[in-house]
Amino acid sequence: MNNIAVFASGNGSNFQAMIDRVQAGNLAANIALLVCDRPGAYCVERAKAAGVPDFAFNAKDYPSKAAFEQEICQQLLKEQVDWIVLAGYMRLIGPALLQEFAGRIINIHPSLLPQFPGKDAIGQALAAKVKWTGVTIHFVDEGMDTGPIIVQERVRIEEGETRESLQRKIQAIEHRLYPEILQMLLTRGEVKHDKKTSTY
Ligand code: GAR
Repeated sequence: MNNIAVFASGNGSNFQAMIDRVQAGNLAANIALLVCDRPGAYCVERAKAAGVPDFAFNAKDYPSKAAFEQEICQQLLKEQVDWIVLAGYMRLIGPALLQEFAGRIINIHPSLLPQFPGKDAIGQALAAKVKWTGVTIHFVDEGMDTGPIIVQERVRIEEGETRESLQRKIQAIEHRLYPEILQMLLTRGEVKHDKKTSTY
């Protein structure tokens, strides 16, 4: 079973969707750690309610980004984390974590990247008056919402669409798609040790 760490900064509804899928038996992962850069954020309460260990830190307590990432790295290694899943984590991932977890960090973003990267992608799409926006899941590199795209799903922006209605539609997709893609990535190429079920 793969150990995953979810990184979040706020509400954590995507984190909750993963907890629910694991509990329902539809996501073969152990959520080993929540990493949060805002100790008062609601995602930390969700972790505590679900019995998921959390590492909530304040960047201001560290001399540099390298210093807090080093501590995150230690926590991840202690929990034997295999994959990092960014779910509303509003910071760029630095070189220390990128090197240690190369090819095993994914992110979800509420737009059809490369359109509308960064903060408030939903507001950006409404302001640009585009007819379609969506959700992107991608591998993480050193850029802001860049890196190879794994999947995208489109959402139509209707006449009179509000920020709230668009966010509801986007999050409904996110909560279904993210656990689904994660399950696919985690089971891809997995070697089953029971000879009868070996796929190799
Ligand atoms: C999600 O919609 C996610 O796509 C977005 O933050 C939200 C977090 O919601 N991520 C980004 O904008 C990354 N650049 P949640 O805390 O309820 O899961």
